[in-house]
Amino acid sequence: IEAIIPSSVKVMSVRQGAPLGLGHAVLCAKPLIGNEPFAVLLPDVLVYNAQSSDFPNNDLKIMITQFEKAGHAQIMVEEVPNDLVDQYGIVDVEKAPLEGESIQMQGIVEKPAVGTAPSNLSVIGRYILPASIMELLEKTPKGAGNEIQLTDAIAMLQKEEAVDAYRMHGKTFDCGSKLGYLKAVLHYG
Ligand code: G1P
Repeated sequence: IEAIIPSSVKVMSVRQGAPLGLGHAVLCAKPLIGNEPFAVLLPDVLVYNAQSSDFPNNDLKIMITQFEKAGHAQIMVEEVPNDLVDQYGIVDVEKAPLEGESIQMQGIVEKPAVGTAPSNLSVIGRYILPASIMELLEKTPKGAGNEIQLTDAIAMLQKEEAVDAYRMHGKTFDCGSKLGYLKAVLHYG
């Protein structure tokens, strides 16, 4: 990794000693984050952003710009079929934003049962979060799957301040599933 990243980037790693959930994993990075806002990128979700004149910037870059403009946390979402909502975090919004745009969310829930989800906009592994999420993660009880969920801490944050759902324009591959991984290999091939 160090051979391919810009020389200004420093790589530091933290070990999550036990599989206690995504929220716990993020909390393990608290000493590195300090008081700065930060991005979370789940590496099993691959995001492919083709360059186009409509979207010269990639989704993560747009999310950072929106965060800097509005000061709201940005949670990347995309539509999923209604029967797959129980595999994702799902956001509650009054109206689905256009691709490349953000809208303030009313709520967020981790892996709702099919038929109970507030929308079909799923959280897709990219987040821009304020440092204050760490204090919320410290008091987040175990949730779905008996794990400490980042989604539950974001739901608490959203009760204190505005949090936006950002609708991605790129293409995503869920490489946490065998089929998603194969599709990614074919697409990049
Ligand atoms: C995690 C998050 C979930 C999100 C998903 C895909 O779930 O908890 O909210 O929708 O990643 O990015 P996991 O795939 O770890 O079960």
